[in-house]
Amino acid sequence: VTGDSGLDDTGQGGPADDVARRFVRPAGTYLLSHSIGLSPSETAQHALEAHLGVWDHDPAGAWTHWLAEIEGFRSALAALLGHEAAWFCPQVNVSSGLTKVLQALRPSGSIVMTEEAFPSLGFVIGALGAHAVFVERDADVFDLDVWAERFDTADPVGAVLITHVHSNTGELLPVADIARLARERGILTIVDVAQSAGVIPIDLRAWDVDVVLGSCVKWLCGGPGAGWMWVRPDVCERSAPTDVGWFSHEDPFEFDIHSFRPASDASRFWGGTPSVLPFAIARRSIELIDAIGVRAIRAHNVALTSRLIDALHPDLVVNPTQADRRSATVVIDAGRQTDEVVDALVAAEVHVDRRPTGIRVSPHVYNAASDIDTVVRVIDGVLGTA
Ligand SMILES: Cc1ncc(COP(=O)(O)O)c(C=O)c1O
Repeated sequence: VTGDSGLDDTGQGGPADDVARRFVRPAGTYLLSHSIGLSPSETAQHALEAHLGVWDHDPAGAWTHWLAEIEGFRSALAALLGHEAAWFCPQVNVSSGLTKVLQALRPSGSIVMTEEAFPSLGFVIGALGAHAVFVERDADVFDLDVWAERFDTADPVGAVLITHVHSNTGELLPVADIARLARERGILTIVDVAQSAGVIPIDLRAWDVDVVLGSCVKWLCGGPGAGWMWVRPDVCERSAPTDVGWFSHEDPFEFDIHSFRPASDASRFWGGTPSVLPFAIARRSIELIDAIGVRAIRAHNVALTSRLIDALHPDLVVNPTQADRRSATVVIDAGRQTDEVVDALVAAEVHVDRRPTGIRVSPHVYNAASDIDTVVRVIDGVLGTA
């Protein structure tokens, strides 16, 4: 773990106190960052100042401040993900962003996606009347031939939705390789980074995909309501959003009801009067994550997840163990004893959750090796030997 991140570099996998202290940590052992990332300690103060403060003290000028917060949100994402602020657009959540993208780009043909994708996105595709071609649960998502085969079905394929991280299986998908196969066939590439942004380094320029959808609730520690999309400039230019409003206009203050001209950047995907608070909050979280450094956060996460994987019997570990194939989450399946393990973890005040695939354990930058050791001790106590 790098020295300038402020993280511990002793190999013990413990964050320096000054990094962990920058987040509000609950009692017990919190390992649910795949669900809700902890809020930075300064969030409440920032929210008061950036949203309520300007509203109370300068209501006439509030929009100037509020829009500056949203610009700050776009810039923070741009810095984190390696592109320009203009091509990011605030959204409510990933599902709604996907609806807007598909309506605007109308890919002709089926949409390839994994069965492990977040169900909400499958609901969107169904509701829009599109046909989903699934990469089934038991298929090998790392085998590029599996993807090529789905792309080359008799059905023409118009788009692929690639989930960067499947949180229920702990898989980290090879986005760039899958996208290259799709691009060679003229297929629109859409990536969902809800489960990776903030913990897995992402370089948008290196990926060369068409659209990326994300939220800030999980590893970005930015709370709900601050969804976003990134659209590649040339894709943006040829897209015609249908869910629009005055903030999608090239000049929102022109106010000519007879003339809608879409903004030249990704703001064309925005809409009517935006909410401000979620973006003001998330902006500061993204800036904090970027300041700590996603590479350092990932290195810390790999140190802690390796510690857990190494301590467990291999049969218990559901996620891939290869570093470049596994996400930030360890998924543990104790078979018929899973209920018992969950009960013991709850009793020990270890905050994790459970999906049909197993128990999800997600260490972030505010977790320490001692948190992993607690999990191992509890599992050991139930199974006899971890
Ligand atoms: C991979 C993935 N995508 C998307 C979401 C959430 O989608 P939305 O922002 O529409 O609620 C989740 C939530 O758990 C997720 O794990």
